[in-house]
Amino acid sequence: FHDRDGNAGILDTGFDRPLPLPEEAGASLDLNPASQRTSILEGKTTSTFAYRSNILGPTIRAFRGEMLIASVQNALSEPTNVHWHGLKVPANMDGNPVDIVKAGESFQYSFPIDQRAGTHWYHPHPHGATARQVHTGLAGMLIINDDEELALGLPAGYFEVPLIIQDKRLKAGKLVYDPSMMETMAGYFGQTITVNGVVSPFHEVQGRWYRFRILNGSTARVYNLALSPNLGMKIIGSDGGLLGAPEDVNEVLLGPGERLDVLVDFSAEPVGSEVYLESKKFNGGSSQGAESFKIMKFIIGASSGDTFQPPGSLSVIDKIPENQATKVRNFEINRMGMMGSGAMHTFNGKSYKRGRVDETVKAGATEIWEFDNAGDEIHPIHIHAVQFQILSRTGGRNGIIPSEKGWKDTVLIFPKEKVRLIMTFPDTPGGFVFHCHNLEHEDDGMMLNFEIV
Ligand code: C2O
Ligand code: CU
Repeated sequence: FHDRDGNAGILDTGFDRPLPLPEEAGASLDLNPASQRTSILEGKTTSTFAYRSNILGPTIRAFRGEMLIASVQNALSEPTNVHWHGLKVPANMDGNPVDIVKAGESFQYSFPIDQRAGTHWYHPHPHGATARQVHTGLAGMLIINDDEELALGLPAGYFEVPLIIQDKRLKAGKLVYDPSMMETMAGYFGQTITVNGVVSPFHEVQGRWYRFRILNGSTARVYNLALSPNLGMKIIGSDGGLLGAPEDVNEVLLGPGERLDVLVDFSAEPVGSEVYLESKKFNGGSSQGAESFKIMKFIIGASSGDTFQPPGSLSVIDKIPENQATKVRNFEINRMGMMGSGAMHTFNGKSYKRGRVDETVKAGATEIWEFDNAGDEIHPIHIHAVQFQILSRTGGRNGIIPSEKGWKDTVLIFPKEKVRLIMTFPDTPGGFVFHCHNLEHEDDGMMLNFEIV
């Protein structure tokens, strides 16, 4: 893979910068999107956007039942807004592309947190500018805790580490977002892989169990995560919270917008040894998965005498019975030729139009949505307002992967795959969007409106 400047391959900077941990904030907070200067690569500063004083935003940690109250003061010279990805929120608080906070203006997002524990995130959603604003630094993690999760006694505090993985395009140390026509079609890939805003960091760990909450905050890049040399992971949660039981994997795909909650045991690793979080090659259609690369390094320290043992079961995932669905909707994912009129990525030949209602859904209804990808690109499909279950995947990879056994809000659809999702919509009316979370595709119009009535 070469970007438009002819750079091939992922930049390896030596893994000599410590992993920063974003500050934590509670359910009441201020977010002030602003332009600032920061250093992504050692010794060079670049202009980025941030919600606080550094790249990215604070990790918001809220307990189920709390009110989330976020006062947003837009100090950028352009409109933005905040979408609470993964959260059940009223339509007017969802960061719909039509609900914009203009430059210099402010808005208070406020809604009750009424859903199970999980790892979510927040980011801007202004149509046509989402990818650039996220790439430039606007994103943060949002963790919901509840009693069920607390009772499991999972690794916490120093041993629960958020990892926000993003690829960035840098030119001479400066962050640039300037996709070519080709990159609007495939996605904008950066050769610099950052974790929590820093290139190729290292993190010192003790010889014990850790919990990592991993977010793929990239605009387009899909990672096939693995730990090397050959250390397995236990997946305990995905987008919508805990799985029923831990799933042992050696590698796991994570698409833009998706989250993973994993346990890793470093206790058998020799003191002083190094373990890398990598992305392995995978068969990802025309533009993804062609290379393996390292993302960050763990340096193993002394064992802490920790006695934690992963629980055998985590939660109960009640399957939504298929016969509860009152409607089936079909969406054909297609990419029209560049000669076509305007958008290159569509659902059923349609692309985003502000104010047009594309689908009308009854409040509280259970529906099956089928997405059929006849093209040769991967699309991570995200539906606002709901968490869904994946009924089936046919064609392509065929079948459901371990991280898809729980609740999801974003699903990877590879070339030639057809995925069937089942979900129950909220009882409250309002307008929401669903879209491809390849943010270049989304900005290109691969997004439609649905109205709950
Ligand atoms: Cu994370 Cu509508 O997006
Ligand atoms: Cu897409």
